[in-house]
Amino acid sequence: MLNTLNAIFAKHRHQPGALLPILHDIQDELGYVPDQAVPEIAKELNLSRAEVHGVITYYHYFRQTPPAKHVVHVCCAEACQANGSEALATHAAARLQNGDITLEPVYCLGLCSIGPAIQIDETSLYARVTTEKFESLIKELGTGS
Ligand code: FES
Repeated sequence: MLNTLNAIFAKHRHQPGALLPILHDIQDELGYVPDQAVPEIAKELNLSRAEVHGVITYYHYFRQTPPAKHVVHVCCAEACQANGSEALATHAAARLQNGDITLEPVYCLGLCSIGPAIQIDETSLYARVTTEKFESLIKELGTGS
């Protein structure tokens, strides 16, 4: 992990406001921001550990634990809420309890007029997701969920 962090720090060394870009790069590389990275980031940016931890916990986007094999993002922003995303998120949370899939909220996927929207892993976007469609998509992942 230290080599990864050092490469990321070197990339952003002279960049003002480097904390968020560094956190994004760490999550892109490792899948999450490990607790062990916090003191290293603090030292690199001359911040306190509490400041770094505060930013990590403020943004829902940053994970503090490794994700499961698949990550499902359910849009919880206003337009999707108006189209039923709260019920979908509740269904998804009850459905995905075996650890094969990480469920995370996201705040807009750019499909606002055709919500509720979800994203599975990094690239697959789906619109007008009903609970039935959700079930079908999860079945296609073949995780046994
Ligand atoms: S509000 Fe859900 S995609 Fe924009």
